[in-house]
Amino acid sequence: MPIPASGTGRGLSNSAAKGTRTDSNWGTDGAIWRAISPPLVPSVEDVELVRKACPPELIKPSAAPRILLLGVTPMLAGAAWPALSELHAVDYDEVMIDTLWQPREHAYCHCARWQEMPFPDGFFDLVIGDCSFNALPATADYAEVLREIARVSRPSAPLICRFFMQSQPRLSLGELAREAAGRFGEYSSAARRLLIPIAASEDDGTIHWTDIPHRICEQFGDVAAFLAVLGQEGEDKARALRTYELDQWLNYPSPERIREIFGQYYSEIGFNYPDYDCGQFCPIVRCLPSSAEFTGTSACTASGREPSLRLRRYQAASRARKALRLGVRSESR
Ligand SMILES: C[S@@+](CC[C@H](N)C(=O)[O-])C[C@H]1O[C@@H](n2cnc3c(N)ncnc32)[C@H](O)[C@@H]1O
Repeated sequence: MPIPASGTGRGLSNSAAKGTRTDSNWGTDGAIWRAISPPLVPSVEDVELVRKACPPELIKPSAAPRILLLGVTPMLAGAAWPALSELHAVDYDEVMIDTLWQPREHAYCHCARWQEMPFPDGFFDLVIGDCSFNALPATADYAEVLREIARVSRPSAPLICRFFMQSQPRLSLGELAREAAGRFGEYSSAARRLLIPIAASEDDGTIHWTDIPHRICEQFGDVAAFLAVLGQEGEDKARALRTYELDQWLNYPSPERIREIFGQYYSEIGFNYPDYDCGQFCPIVRCLPSSAEFTGTSACTASGREPSLRLRRYQAASRARKALRLGVRSESR
């Protein structure tokens, strides 16, 4: 398994009993993630849009930014970042790390929650992700992650992340069924699959996979008939049905909700929509802070390429603090 430099791992139980909002279990079936296609994972165009959304001084060939990746999305980890950059991917699920992480030079993977990341204050120049916030149980959970991102990044660090988002006006399961042949018929099968949880989500944009068949039954009737209308048959249908067994919460915010939440941390929020069939549901969101600009050299120190020295010192100090806490506790028993 590749380098978990540190590992707090998932803090809560896997069971997402209905009505409770625990962390989701993403790695149940790692194999699903190997066979998945855009827009469920980023396309070449999405990766290019993420890079283009970066301030030029962060991605010029001579730049040496420290990049935080929320998750282990291979297309983002392996994108054409400057040669002197240093990338740190954070994911709490060891199966996802085992399945997706591809070791490469100057890229590190950490098994930890985004709410509590193993980095010193002000460490990163850039934060990226692919639909990472959608993987939190609800939009109410964004604030804790954003606070931790604010701690581990420099005041000038932008956040650039693709989102699965509600369209305006919101899509409903009924509209999906009625308009599938016309409006959505030309979409790729993966895009049509993506629209189902978006349309099935509650008013606050959240949905647990296992609730989707109930929502379809309530609003449309038979699940198999609904999938057939959407052209999900054979292997497509089998894949759709497999996802309805996953123990995962998802959330699909509206653009207003994104502005409202991220606007508390960033001064400029922009949406860039990809060109593919369901691009209006998958914008790249660019959040820029108001503070001073990146000077060009975070990862590369004067002493040459010893980029993780500060990180290693921080992690050694954290380990020492933890050992001290444990020691104190066992003495007091
Ligand atoms: C929706 S998947 C990202 C999929 C991505 N679009 C891709 O192409 O790989 C979300 C990932 O985020 C991780 N994750 C979700 N919530 C997390 C959290 N609070 N802290 C750390 N990792 C988290 C999951 O383990 C999973 O690997």
